[in-house]
Amino acid sequence: MKIIYHGHSFLQIVNSKYSILIDPFVTGNPKAITSIENLKCDYIILTHGHGDHISDAMAIAKKYNATVISSFEIANYAEKFNVKAHPMGIGGGFNFPFGRVKLTIAHHSSSFPDGSYAGNPTGVIISMDGKTIYHAGDTGLFYDMKLIGEMHKIDCAFLPIGDNFTMGIDDAVKASEFINAHVTIPIHFNTFDIINANPEDYKKKVESIGKKCRIINIGDSIEI
Ligand code: NI
Ligand code: MN
Repeated sequence: MKIIYHGHSFLQIVNSKYSILIDPFVTGNPKAITSIENLKCDYIILTHGHGDHISDAMAIAKKYNATVISSFEIANYAEKFNVKAHPMGIGGGFNFPFGRVKLTIAHHSSSFPDGSYAGNPTGVIISMDGKTIYHAGDTGLFYDMKLIGEMHKIDCAFLPIGDNFTMGIDDAVKASEFINAHVTIPIHFNTFDIINANPEDYKKKVESIGKKCRIINIGDSIEI
């Protein structure tokens, strides 16, 4: 399968049958180079309610009749827009037609763009085509990442490095050690000045502890 990095925390997982978006962020994203017209999808996974993760999700879901997969609160919110939604809870997994999705904890907050409560923020583990991906969502470093690494053989971990709202580089390096993924990929940096970080610094530090790191430029993809 192919994973396209659309910038910020926005990934698109594509195989021969399915297109799955995670945290689409195009409108208001100064670094976005794609548009909603190019984002045909079957499912949209949302880690939490902040605008830089969900602001385009309802419009995209409606346009392509996609199903939103997220927390109970965000699934209820989606249904108010007449969008199909599948609610989940942290620690729970479900086998979807494309593969298995499991929600993890994330240490962050979660509210909708209007300020109302959006449940707890999450990370997500996706297993499909024999590979396992971990998207940490927005989070600080937490020791249970070690447990995530023990319970799942993660092929590819997407970790925020932009600091201020999430882990910065040094904490994300520690996270890469805990998760023990085959490769980690930095996300959630350089979209706005407040989260500027140099991914090359992160890569160097990850490699110095004997782990692999790939930096994916916006619009580029990896095959796993
Ligand atoms: Ni956030
Ligand atoms: Mn964010």
